[in-house]
Amino acid sequence: MNTQDQLQETIELLVQKGKGILAADESDPTIAKRFDAIGVTSTEEHRRIYRSLILETPRLGDFISGIILFEETLGQRTGDGTALPELATRQGIVPGIKVDKGKGPLALSPGDEITQGLDGLAQRLEAYQIQGARFAKWRNVYHISDTTPSRLAIDANAEMLARYAAICQTQGIVPIVEPEVLMDGDHTIEHCAAVSEQVLHALFHALHRHHVILEHTLLKPSMITPGKSYPQKAVPTVVAEQTVRILRRTVPAALPSINFLSGGQTPEEATANLNAMNCLAPQPWELSFSYGRALQQPALQAWRGEPGNVMAAQAALYRRAELNGAARRGEYRPEMESAGG
Ligand code: 13P
Repeated sequence: MNTQDQLQETIELLVQKGKGILAADESDPTIAKRFDAIGVTSTEEHRRIYRSLILETPRLGDFISGIILFEETLGQRTGDGTALPELATRQGIVPGIKVDKGKGPLALSPGDEITQGLDGLAQRLEAYQIQGARFAKWRNVYHISDTTPSRLAIDANAEMLARYAAICQTQGIVPIVEPEVLMDGDHTIEHCAAVSEQVLHALFHALHRHHVILEHTLLKPSMITPGKSYPQKAVPTVVAEQTVRILRRTVPAALPSINFLSGGQTPEEATANLNAMNCLAPQPWELSFSYGRALQQPALQAWRGEPGNVMAAQAALYRRAELNGAARRGEYRPEMESAGG
């Protein structure tokens, strides 16, 4: 198969009605934080057990079309010796890989950050592909304050994301570009909207400059909300209107799907907000999810590292995936949260 056909096939597998992506690609420090909250030490073995549990969830593929894995997970196996990416494929779930090397300060630009990881990326992708990865993720972050993100940060980060996406497409790997405007701060929803509009505008210009094929690209943005410390939360209809308004201004119709991150929203908020967007008039792209915390939190809480809790954890993950599947169709109602199975 040539590279274009390969990219197209992966897009078709990832973008399916009623389904979305599960982000299970926490870096070592991040998974340690998640495990800490449930009293589990983050050893390689515990991470293997937990991520096997996720991928062994019966019928997870009903609502999950793709899973983003961390490098370590690509090489791990279940108790019976099945490679974890292979287990994903058996479930009808496309395995993907987080390829950025994390963020750090943008030199001489106080308060701004930039993401690293372009050096040797093409060679790393070749190796990941052999291990089963068919798509990739790269996350850049933008801090909202009186002085950030600076124009320089917006342009430099757009350039990094575009270079990453171009390298992925050369290798036949579908790139997910993730520009996350962080929720930290007490800013208004209007401030978040203004920053997000600039960020997305710069990103799609850069993707165009770098000849990235939008039909073979997925966008993973943050939703437009007030800052976490702003006194009032926005209701789902407001989040939906603000988010879709900015996306319509900045994201070309050629892009097949927008898969939101949850970014610190509760599982219920993330589902309700996605649902509200899918209740608006039809959009040029699919509106879906690529949640980490909003899908995994209830499962982690149910598991707590106890072998006897594995089935309860899998049921919690499946239920969350199912509710987000409903939100993909605009059919979620908050009453479903207490309806059980
Ligand atoms: P959250 O949904 O927890 O924000 O994670 C998504 C993700 O992949 C961040 O890079």
